[in-house]
Parts: sequence; C-alpha cells; structure tokens
Amino acid sequence: MGQVSTALQAYRLFLLFVVLSSAGISVSGAACSDSDRAALIELKSGLTDPYIGVFSSWTSKDCCSGWYGVACDPDTGRVTDLVLRGESEDPILTMAGRPGLMTGGISPAVCRLDHISTLVIADWKQISGPIPACITSLSSLRVLDLIGNRLTGSLPSNLGKLYHLAVLNVADNQITGPIPESLTQMGSLMYLNLANNQLSGSIPSDFGNLKMLSGALLGRNRLSGVIPSSIGQMNRLADLDLAENQIWGSIPASLASMPVLSSLYLGSNRLTGGIPAVLLGNKGLGILNLSRNAIEGPIPDAFTSISYFTTLDLSYNKLTGDLPKTLLTAAYVGHIDLSNNNLCGRIPTASPFDRLDASSFANNDCLCGWPLQACAS
Ligand SMILES: *[C@@H]1O[C@H](CO)[C@@H](O)[C@H](O)[C@H]1NC(C)=O
Repeated sequence: MGQVSTALQAYRLFLLFVVLSSAGISVSGAACSDSDRAALIELKSGLTDPYIGVFSSWTSKDCCSGWYGVACDPDTGRVTDLVLRGESEDPILTMAGRPGLMTGGISPAVCRLDHISTLVIADWKQISGPIPACITSLSSLRVLDLIGNRLTGSLPSNLGKLYHLAVLNVADNQITGPIPESLTQMGSLMYLNLANNQLSGSIPSDFGNLKMLSGALLGRNRLSGVIPSSIGQMNRLADLDLAENQIWGSIPASLASMPVLSSLYLGSNRLTGGIPAVLLGNKGLGILNLSRNAIEGPIPDAFTSISYFTTLDLSYNKLTGDLPKTLLTAAYVGHIDLSNNNLCGRIPTASPFDRLDASSFANNDCLCGWPLQACAS
C-alpha cells in the first residue's frame, strides 16, 4: 500500500525543521547538565550497537558538543533533542555501509531528560522491552518516534498528558493492549502512526477530538469495534488507515464530509452495510480501499465530474447489482478493482472501463462484455 502521503511529507518537513533548528543551537553555549549527561550514559548502557558505533562519540564531559544525535538548549545546557536513527542518510550510517541494528532496551533513565522535546530512537530493529511508562512525564515532548524496533508492552494509559506532542510514531513494533482513551486529549497531535503492532480494543469514540491531526495510521493491528463517527469532524485529517484489523459495523457517512480526506484505507476488516453514496462524490478523496470486507448492496450511482480516484479497490465484498453509470462521468479513475463481488450486467464500452483488464472484474455473478466474455445477447 503506497502510503507516501501528504501527512508523511508534512512530518518529514517538520523533522527537517527540528533537525535544522537544533543543528543551529548545538554549536556552542552552556555545557551539558550533569544530570542529563548521567541519564544519557545510563540510556547508552542499556543499548548495544555492534556495527555502527553511534555511541563512540559519547565520551567527552560536555554532552552538548560532539555527542552523536544529542542537541541542547545553549542557554541552559539541557538536552532538547536525541535523534538516533538506524536508517538514514547520516554519514555515520553511510560509512558503515549497512542499516543500524541495536539490541537492549530503552532505559527509564530517558525520563530524566526532562527538557527534551524530540526523542527519536528509530529503525534499530532489535531494541526490545517496553516504552518506559515514565515517558508521560516529559511535558516538553513534541516528537516521539520509536518506529521500527521490537518494543513490547502497552502504551502508557496516561499518554494524553503529553499535551504538546505533535508527532507520535511507534509503528512497526510489537505493542499490545488498547489505544489509551487519554490519547484523544492530545490537542497538538498532527501525526499518529501506530501501524503494524498488536493493538487491540476499539478506537476511542471521541477520536474526532484530535482536531490538529492530519494522518492517522492504525492499520495492521487487532483493533475491533466500530469506526467512530466523530472522525467525520476532523477538518485536517488527510490520511486514515484502519486496514487489516477486525473492525466491524458500517462506514459512517460522516467520513464523506471531511474537507481534506485524501486516502481512506479500510481493507481487510469486517465491515458490513453499504458504501455511503456521498463518499464517491467526495472531491479530494483519491484513494479508497474497501477491499476484503463484507460490504453489501449496489455500488452507489453517485460519482460526479469531481470524483478523482487514483485507486478504487472494492474487491472481495458482497456488492450486488449493475455497474454504476455515473462512473463514466468521473473526472478520473486510475486503478479500479471490482473483482470477487456479486455484480451483474454489461460492462460499458467507455472510459474508464475500456482500458481495464479482466482481473478488475473477475469472479462476479454475471458481468459480461469486454474485457470479459461477450454478453448473451
Ligand atoms: C487494498 O487493501 C487490501 C487489504 O489491506 C490490500 O491487500 C490491497 O493490496 C489494497 N489494494 C490496493 C490497490 O492497494
């Protein structure tokens, strides 16, 4: 699922900004506080990096100068940023000629860095153990990125205390337990990526309170329950990925009124009910993937001249009836997959149908005409 999304781009820009601004202030200034230095040393002692040697620079007295990945406030000597990425274009990784790998765990000592605003320990593949629960005391935290490790345990239930957090990314770990109810109190959250873990329980019903959120990636977990209709109130949400969970119920029609929603991934769940007609006429929605659910009824004949889909995957559902005539009026439909449903009737001989191949229509009840077999008469 190519999800290089607008939210991800915004997140990258944001990180670039964070990195540039911290590079500017780490050059000179107050020497590192003794307590922060001790906390960093304790964090380091819990981690083993056998190949790259990212910690080889963590020896001098002043952790604010020359320590790889560490940046401080020049006035106070307090650590503001710790950025350790196992996959990046950083010279230290390029020289090593291989992506990073670390074992060990994230020491609770990290919670003593109580002026930190950016904490990135990402893509080290083998870092295991829990996210220290005390992390919720880091009240200045704006970026928490722990993607691509092997973290276990659950998300701290009082995570919502991190009121300034803009980026929360713990994707590609083995985190279990529920999405904390308190998460919806994070009024500054712009990017949330919990994808590819083992989270269970339902999505908090007031998820729509996250008014600043532009990307919500919760796919590939074990989430159940329904899609909260409050999501329809999110005015900045561009990317919503709930794919490959166990979510049931119907698709709330309120999703169609979201002003900037551009990708909606709901594939491989247990959704039932029909496709809300308004969703198909939504102006900005470019990717709609409802594949592998139990969605029923006809495909609403509700496409308009502003419907513009690069991907429309409705395959493996229980859709019935004819192909919608208004699909011919859509501004653009790129990849379309209607296979493995119970559709019936003649495939029109006009765009976009005339350039699709048989796999887009395969395994339906009685579709006919090119690129399938000719209709009976
Ligand atoms: C749609 O989602 C399903 C389930 O996540 C996935 O297998 C499929 O590849 C997706 N379709 C497209 C066109 O990306």
